[in-house]
Amino acid sequence: MSELVKLSVNGEELEAQKGSLLIDALLDKDIHIPHFCYHQALGKDGNCRMCMVEIEGQKRPQIACDTPIKEGMIVRTKGENIEKVRRDILELELINHPIDCPTCDQAGECKLQDYYMESGFYHSRVNVDNKVTARKRIELGSNVMLDQERCVLCTRCVRFCSDITKTNELGVISRADHSVIGTFPGRPLDNPYAMNVVDLCPVGALTSQDFRFKQRVWFMESFDAICSGCSRGCNIKVDHRKEKYKDDQIFRFRPRVNKAVNGWFMCDEGRLSYKNESENRLLVSKIGNEETNFDNAITNTFKILTTENKILFVLDPSLSLEEMQNIQNLASALKAEITGFAPHLIDESFGDDYLRKSDKSANRAAYKELGISEDEAEFNSKLKAATAVVILNNNYFDKNLSLLDGKKVVGCFSHVCETLAKSDITIPTASFYEKSGTYINFEGIKQKVISKIRKDKPMESITSIIEYIKSMIEKGSL
Ligand code: SF4
Ligand code: SF4
Ligand code: FES
Repeated sequence: MSELVKLSVNGEELEAQKGSLLIDALLDKDIHIPHFCYHQALGKDGNCRMCMVEIEGQKRPQIACDTPIKEGMIVRTKGENIEKVRRDILELELINHPIDCPTCDQAGECKLQDYYMESGFYHSRVNVDNKVTARKRIELGSNVMLDQERCVLCTRCVRFCSDITKTNELGVISRADHSVIGTFPGRPLDNPYAMNVVDLCPVGALTSQDFRFKQRVWFMESFDAICSGCSRGCNIKVDHRKEKYKDDQIFRFRPRVNKAVNGWFMCDEGRLSYKNESENRLLVSKIGNEETNFDNAITNTFKILTTENKILFVLDPSLSLEEMQNIQNLASALKAEITGFAPHLIDESFGDDYLRKSDKSANRAAYKELGISEDEAEFNSKLKAATAVVILNNNYFDKNLSLLDGKKVVGCFSHVCETLAKSDITIPTASFYEKSGTYINFEGIKQKVISKIRKDKPMESITSIIEYIKSMIEKGSL
């Protein structure tokens, strides 16, 4: 680790690593420094000049993204002179920028809009009719839309495709104020991580085809979670909104920085998996084919659990650690068997050498921690012996329905699935993002999710279903 040195920023003393970039020290300490082209995942490019600061002893302002830190450096990010320099650069950025904010999907989370608002420089010296125009609404690939006029040519998107995915779909085309971003002919932006350019774009030039015009960002609330799409467990933000008379709905997932897990990014399949939360949900309890209420379904489950003598609980590797522990406790109280067999979630074609893992479950590592077996031979022998099977969100039987022939089946699922055709009792459960819990990723990193989704019709989490059954057992009630 390199040497720590002291420097002064706006009169405050800071410590930072000698030789590291000044902009990183400012960003890490939450000191406001306007910037477009620099990004911690992509490094410096020095093209936008927005990050100008004053450094004592230097004749001219310097860009913080290309200034290494030295002992005793005296830096100013505020003050009339330096703020005027940055305002002049901003004016250059705005010369050809369209007046789109009221209809732009990036409004509310646009760096250009933020810097413009804080500059106090509201009267344009450019005649709108003299602006250089460019193309709008260009589909770069299945998920990303480009508005060339709004681009500030920071090249973050280009560098993402050249340095991170190494797929090189994007480039800067033409020269001077006719320069625009574009794809190469016949090479759409369709790599498995393409939508990260939408987050990287500091303005409304790149927008998500899926999210655009669905919500104004200031109406949404957000909570921290992890993606359940594979055993990486990418850190994400869940943006959701409860509109009047409607259920709380998730509108998008965005990556959240965790350098140890996913860095700054996530894959497109994980990002779009928020849709599963509202599609095809199981909403009603059933006994056989008849709809019933939750209490009735639980009472009948309790009857099965206390009358059948060979019970098997089948867990899913995306259940939370707490849910697994609760099921283990219940199974041991009932002297029942337990299995975590779930080979259907391994998809070798999904994994890659970046973020995506072939195990498309969020918490298989918790099996190891809790000693839950997923061995196939053991599963087969426990299933053969079982007279009743309680299936907890595990979809293995969807393609193996005949394995359940002749057994009593309790199906607890968040989504409608084939296995329900074999269920004597059906109980709807909370989905991944409607419950809180702990998950362990493939590298053994433990992560906690605290859900903030509020439903008018709450689906019970598996933990509360188990608690309910346990309290009935304790009371010995029927
Ligand atoms: S499209 Fe966005 S990310 Fe790409 S260069 Fe333009 S402003 Fe930067
Ligand atoms: S890599 Fe895995 S955890 Fe990360 S976003 Fe994609 S599916 Fe989700
Ligand atoms: S952020 Fe420093 S020059 Fe662009």
